[in-house]
Amino acid sequence: MCGIVGYIGNSDSYPVLVKGLHRLEYRGYDSAGVAILNACGELHTYKAKGKVEDLERFCCDKDTAGSIGIAHTRWATHGEPNDVNAHPHVSENGEIALVHNGTIENYNVLKQALEEHGCTFRSETDTEVLVQLIQYIKESTKCPLLTAVREALSQVVGAYAIAVIDKRTPDTIIAARKSSPLVIGLGDDATYIASDATPIVDYTDRVVYLNDGEIAIIEKGKDLRVITFDNEPSDIDIRTLKMSVSQLEKGGYPHFMLKEIFEQPETIQDCIRGRIVGDKVRLSGVSENEDVFLGTGRIIIVACGTSWHAGLIGKRLIQEIAHIPVVVEYASEFRYSTPIINPDDVVIAISQSGETADTLAAIRLAKEHGAFVYGVCNVVGSSIARATDSGTYIHVGPEIGVASTKAFTGQVTVLAMLALAIGQLRGTVDSTSVRELASAIKALPVLISDALKLNDEIERLSGIYTYVHNFLYLGRGYNYPSALEGALKLKEISYIHAEGYPAAEMKHGPIALIDHELPTVIIAPNDEMHEKIISNIQQVKARGGSVIAVVTKGDSVIAGLADHILEISEVPECLSPVIVSIPLQLLAYHIAIKKGCNVDMPRNLAKSVTVE
Ligand code: M6R
Repeated sequence: MCGIVGYIGNSDSYPVLVKGLHRLEYRGYDSAGVAILNACGELHTYKAKGKVEDLERFCCDKDTAGSIGIAHTRWATHGEPNDVNAHPHVSENGEIALVHNGTIENYNVLKQALEEHGCTFRSETDTEVLVQLIQYIKESTKCPLLTAVREALSQVVGAYAIAVIDKRTPDTIIAARKSSPLVIGLGDDATYIASDATPIVDYTDRVVYLNDGEIAIIEKGKDLRVITFDNEPSDIDIRTLKMSVSQLEKGGYPHFMLKEIFEQPETIQDCIRGRIVGDKVRLSGVSENEDVFLGTGRIIIVACGTSWHAGLIGKRLIQEIAHIPVVVEYASEFRYSTPIINPDDVVIAISQSGETADTLAAIRLAKEHGAFVYGVCNVVGSSIARATDSGTYIHVGPEIGVASTKAFTGQVTVLAMLALAIGQLRGTVDSTSVRELASAIKALPVLISDALKLNDEIERLSGIYTYVHNFLYLGRGYNYPSALEGALKLKEISYIHAEGYPAAEMKHGPIALIDHELPTVIIAPNDEMHEKIISNIQQVKARGGSVIAVVTKGDSVIAGLADHILEISEVPECLSPVIVSIPLQLLAYHIAIKKGCNVDMPRNLAKSVTVE
């Protein structure tokens, strides 16, 4: 995915655009650019391969004056990351500039048609096709920019959020969305556009989330107008942002990821707040849809990446507590698998960003089959949050580090509360169990604080394993998904190959990998599987492998077997992934830092994947 920013007002746009790009850099960071219209009617476009700071260096001796501008930070889909493929793209006549987040699937057909009309292309991108098409329509039909944009979009197949400026209409930005997010901020004397609200929060808390199939006409000094692709006026729903600038800064930490790991006692508190009342769990998404949760015979969880790992834990929680059969699917596989979806199925879509393309597509499919779709999202007002019938926000605040940390623990906590809320409703869990689990959920922030005290020890430990090439992560039951998540964290930020496995599966294959060069992280808190996990540790040790074990405090047996132990507090088995994940996140972080990796912006990745 990419990040879009736009500004129209009375001040210079460049500082707002660049600050906004920094905020959106988590969405893509292989190149960046700005296009600015100045008071003389000139359009200046500057682009640079690399991060936003590279663009700033490039622009430092350029003329960046002008109070209307659009900007972009890119995660390449079509064409390698370089200066030419960077956005904004400018029409051949040099008059129209456009930034785009998403993909244009039929760009090849459109490109060929435009080439036949004499149009030449500079970049390899799908985006350039759109700006050339707008110019072509505008010139050949002598229509205004808005009409040309509408007509061009009617020919385009794909997902997009765009912002367009035109030298000929220098007081206007046209923005449009289909399947990619766009937020408009309404300031006193300026209007802002961005892919999410983070570039806007410094200036105003009044925002409008553009809906799919809408075009915004933003004119200097005039009220915002929104129309549909069919040219019908849309209602403008102004929302109040509940986000603070401090949430978007590192707050003294060297990286967002470390800040987000250390925030977890507070984020889990925020996630629980108001949802455990007395001895009961109260989720409005469940109480407002009692018939749905009483009538369902099956739950299907769809998600990607870390959210999918949380979904695996959710499956166990819901089956154990609410006694409903649950299947967990990668959204990307589900959508193409001819799934059997019944109208009485509940589909739970889990997504931090609320923008993941595959998860969104899975939701649409589920709705087409008449299923009820429940969202577990973090970003308020995101596409998934709006596409679902109901849901529960995890409320962990903006997650900026590309590696998901606090969102994972928030998702598991919400899924535990969801399982309890459904179990209460269906009478599958007795009041004593609800009371005990609810109080264990309330205790999570304290247990997380305790686990965070392992930080110094893990930093030292990470020095031993910095240059290892492979890692194995093993866990059982609720902590098999923790093993998958621990391995994902390590590989995505340190580029060390890591595999997560259910511990008992080790002897069916992965055991062949074990030697003195392959460390194994074994998640072994005191639970039903403890004895069996001990034998896995013995099997690894017998083959010369080293073991880092995450154990419950006071586990002298594993302390005597493993090379290193990381001790966590006693916690009920079904909530243990929340606590176990803290040392695993810290281990990945410190190894990556020691390797000199950019943990907040790992290579090739983007925070959420809004394209296929
Ligand atoms: O925003 P989502 O939760 O839908 O994102 C899903 C995955 O792309 C995401 O969890 C990804 O795997 C992270 N990089 C993991 O740290």
